[in-house]
Formats: sequence, C-alpha cells, structure tokens
Amino acid sequence: MTERAASRTAILVCQGRAVADGRLGAGRFSDPLAIDLLLPEERDIVARVRAGEVPKAFGARMEYELVSATSEVLAARTIAIDDAVREQANPQLVILGAGLDARAWRMPELTGVEVFEVDHPASQAEKRERLGDREPLASVLFVPVDFGKDSLGTALTEAGHDETRPTTWIWEGVVPYLTPAEVGETVTEVAKRSAVGSRMIVTYPTPNRLYRYGRRAMELLLSLTGRTNPMAREPQRSSWTPEAMAAVLSDRGLTVTTDRDMLTIAQEAGVEGKRGSFLSTGRLAIADRH
Ligand SMILES: C[S@@+](CC[C@H](N)C(=O)[O-])C[C@H]1O[C@@H](n2cnc3c(N)ncnc32)[C@H](O)[C@@H]1O
Repeated sequence: MTERAASRTAILVCQGRAVADGRLGAGRFSDPLAIDLLLPEERDIVARVRAGEVPKAFGARMEYELVSATSEVLAARTIAIDDAVREQANPQLVILGAGLDARAWRMPELTGVEVFEVDHPASQAEKRERLGDREPLASVLFVPVDFGKDSLGTALTEAGHDETRPTTWIWEGVVPYLTPAEVGETVTEVAKRSAVGSRMIVTYPTPNRLYRYGRRAMELLLSLTGRTNPMAREPQRSSWTPEAMAAVLSDRGLTVTTDRDMLTIAQEAGVEGKRGSFLSTGRLAIADRH
C-alpha cells in the first residue's frame, strides 16, 4: 500500500460482510452498515452474489467467486471475534487496521466503551468520508498510524488510550500485509499497553503453498480479464504457523487461550463453509494477559 492509496482489501472484506448480512450465520452475524459503507459501483457485485447470479464470462466469474468466498470467511471470523469481544467486556477496544469495520456502530455491547480505530492514514480518511455523520454507539477515537513507520504507542497515548486499564485488541485481516518484523513490533507495543485482563484477538494466514499459488493465479486472471484486482497493491508479506504466532504473543506475556482454523469456526458458527480449502488456511487466535 502506498502513502496515498487507501486499502482495497478493506473494501473487499466489506463487500464480503454485505453479501453475508442476513444470509450467512443467521441469528449470529449481522452487519447492516456494510452495504452503506460501499460506493454504488462497489455494490453491484454484492447484489449479484446475493442473488446467486453466477456470471458466464471468465473474469466476472472470478470476481464473483472471490467475493462469495470472502463472504464465508468474513461471516465466520466476525461471529468468533464478536463473541470474544463480548466475553471479555473491557472498557477500551483498540481495532488495529480497522478498515471499514462497523463494530463501534453496530454492537450495542460497545456503548460506553472507548474504541480506538487505528488504521493507515489513507484508509482511515476514506472511511471517515464514507461514514459521513453516522453516529457510533461507542465513543470512537480515530488514530492514523502506518505500522511500518509510525509509533503505535505514541499515537495511542496522544489519543488518550490508558495503559493501566484493560484493553481488548482486534487485529483482523491485517497480519498478512505486514512483515514479520512489523508484526513483532506491533505485538511488543500492544503487550506494553495491555493491563491484566487485556485480550488480543488476531487473525492470521498459515503458510500454504497451494493457497499462495491459487491466489497468484486468481490475481493474474483478474488482471488479464480487465477486472479490478483488490490485492494488487497489498501483497502478502507474512504467514505464521500456530506455534510461531503463539511464540510471538507469549514471548511478550500474552498467553494464547484458543487458536482455531476458520473452517472449524465456520462450522461451529453455522456458516455453510462451501469453500473449505479457502477457509482452512486462515486462523484466529485469542491471547489474554493474566
Ligand atoms: C483486509 S483490510 C482489513 C480491515 C478490517 N480489519 C476488516 O477486517 O474489515 C486490511 C487493513 O489493514 C490496514 N493496513 C495494512 N497495512 C497497514 C499498515 N502498514 N499500517 C496501517 N494499516 C495497515 C489497511 O489500511 C486495511 O484497513
């Protein structure tokens, strides 16, 4: 991602939530704001996938499959993350790489909670434009940070984050875009600011050659057929085994309490999970400060 460009993968995952809303994980997943945060031209594909209109043309079919598969991953991980946030009701929530996350606007449990939305400055500026004057349920503070350049700790201190009170941290769909060093540095800052009772919720990709080749092939086909490739400017920079992720967290005093793959999460959450191989390469870990 460059200095000026806002994240396109943030739009893709928002499209996934808009597709899933009312269709996947019924009764457990809902994100009615997702469709509102998309621009009219970004809503067309959402409508087609929701209607099950499978296109015949190859490029359009690739795009359809990408958004459809994304909706399964997003429904599953949103349910699991929301549950983990509710379970550990902390007074502060920091969303790292927030993108078009609408939790502060849609979760009544966050009323009265201080929510710090941390994101790349360009992505955050675009989100604020898209939000317009929609009022959040929580008290929201926007914290622009480039994890590769800026000090997360300094930015959070300036925004009023209190490291003596417990914090829940959500790091959803961001780790793949960071180098191993950036991941380590971010966890160091998070751990320093995590009072007893704090909780880190992180999703991460596992090393998987088949998935990597599949993703490259899909990106190539999208480009060759003149479709938008949302991953073009956001290459995958790291992947982690569960052991490696547990080590990064526990070396800094955050103890992993659960670590599950997305396919298991999808099945437990009642999300259909037709895309088993796509789902099973991602994992969600929860680590607590005891
Ligand atoms: C796939 S989106 C996920 C957004 C959101 N967490 C969600 O799940 O809907 C990736 C997010 O990571 C952010 N991101 C990627 N690299 C970043 C960096 N170096 N510094 C800050 N944010 C970054 C992007 O701005 C974007 O919002």
